[in-house]
Amino acid sequence: MQRLSVRLAAAKHRYEIKIGRRTLPEIGDEIHDCLPHRARRVAVISNLKVLRFYGTQVFKSLRASQYAVWPWLIGDGERYKTLATVQKVLLFLSEAGLERTDAVVALGGGVIGDVVGFAAATYLRGVPFLQVPTTLIAQIDSSVGGKTGVNLPHGKNLVGAFHQPCGVLIDTETLTTLSRRELVSGWCESIKQGAVGSKSLFKQTRDFLEMINANPDTFISPALENLIRSQCAFKAAIVTGDEREAPERTDHLSRRVLNFGHTVGHALESITKYRRFRHGEAVGYGMLVAGHISKDLGLLAASELELLRDTVRLAGSLPAASDLDEGAIMQAILRDKKSVDGRIKWVLLERIGRARIVDGKEITSRLVRSSIRDGLKKSL
Ligand SMILES: NC(=O)c1ccc[n+]([C@@H]2O[C@H](COP(=O)([O-])OP(=O)(O)OC[C@H]3O[C@@H](n4cnc5c(N)ncnc54)[C@H](O)[C@@H]3O)[C@@H](O)[C@H]2O)c1
Ligand SMILES: [Zn+2]
Repeated sequence: MQRLSVRLAAAKHRYEIKIGRRTLPEIGDEIHDCLPHRARRVAVISNLKVLRFYGTQVFKSLRASQYAVWPWLIGDGERYKTLATVQKVLLFLSEAGLERTDAVVALGGGVIGDVVGFAAATYLRGVPFLQVPTTLIAQIDSSVGGKTGVNLPHGKNLVGAFHQPCGVLIDTETLTTLSRRELVSGWCESIKQGAVGSKSLFKQTRDFLEMINANPDTFISPALENLIRSQCAFKAAIVTGDEREAPERTDHLSRRVLNFGHTVGHALESITKYRRFRHGEAVGYGMLVAGHISKDLGLLAASELELLRDTVRLAGSLPAASDLDEGAIMQAILRDKKSVDGRIKWVLLERIGRARIVDGKEITSRLVRSSIRDGLKKSL
């Protein structure tokens, strides 16, 4: 099993991320290790799909460690990431009689982690929660960093809180039941983290994709654990250096760099009403558009852009995007919440492994339009 310690100075908090194969049967011990007090009750919040696969082993382990288990299911999908769902979870925690020394487990993908983390942040002004991420996106990204929250009808993640987990328990075997598209989506986010953060992380992701494309049986392997550990270490380094996403920061280590590919990615998701792309798939195209802008501004070498394109291709095929209306994409970009005073802070690349945040005024709409055409040109 791989372990990674995350220390947050400002929040005066420390927790461990544990990554391994078949770690779920150890969840009882894990809860015990990460709580300062002896909890009596553990609320496990999940959805039906995830619970059917993994509920039995989680409940068995918790009961073997003498916890009273209180399970609760929420609906599956982004449309349940709402205040209404949070209210239901809060009512459940209250009816279960959960106390501040008890614990909440978020068992599922990023939606479960964000909703349950927010409920845990607000119930009794904060109760401990354990992240047990079961999608690739959740394992490499959303379970680390303490951002929790829900959507409003006006946009994504508009309500939330920073609430750090008491621990993160990753079982790589849960990825074996994930659909191919959810995996592709996660791989695109992995490529993103390497592209903005470190050439060696990018290469590690690329090497792993080449290996599993050549032989799918190598998927569940020590190499996967190593890669998830490296991805979590990168995310942890960024978030510990910028715990609350300081709005004024625009340096290459600010939390904002994680938005690489997301300006156009969100626009693609919104104009297709969240029906055509999984989030990471849209980010895959968004990275290519941002890559073209970077190249056309003279920041990024053509060979680096080609490497990025080729690596996105290795992640798997993406739904076609070349038929989408350029004007509609432009409008959606301006509506995105990252545009301040109508000006967008673009996350661009200087090279693979180094991001640069560039103020919108240097980027003309003509340049964005031509980059959209180039980035979405052919399906991947
Ligand atoms: N808090 C953060 O820092 C942060 C970072 C990135 C993304 N997010 C959020 O995460 C969400 C996306 O997360 P996601 O991609 O995990 O989506 P998701 O939680 O909707 O999961 C995707 C699908 O996979 C299913 N699933 C989960 N685990 C499974 C398993 N092991 N086997 C089979 N099916 C499984 C889910 O039921 C769902 O249908 C978005 O709401 C996004 O805003 C948050
Ligand atoms: Zn994302």
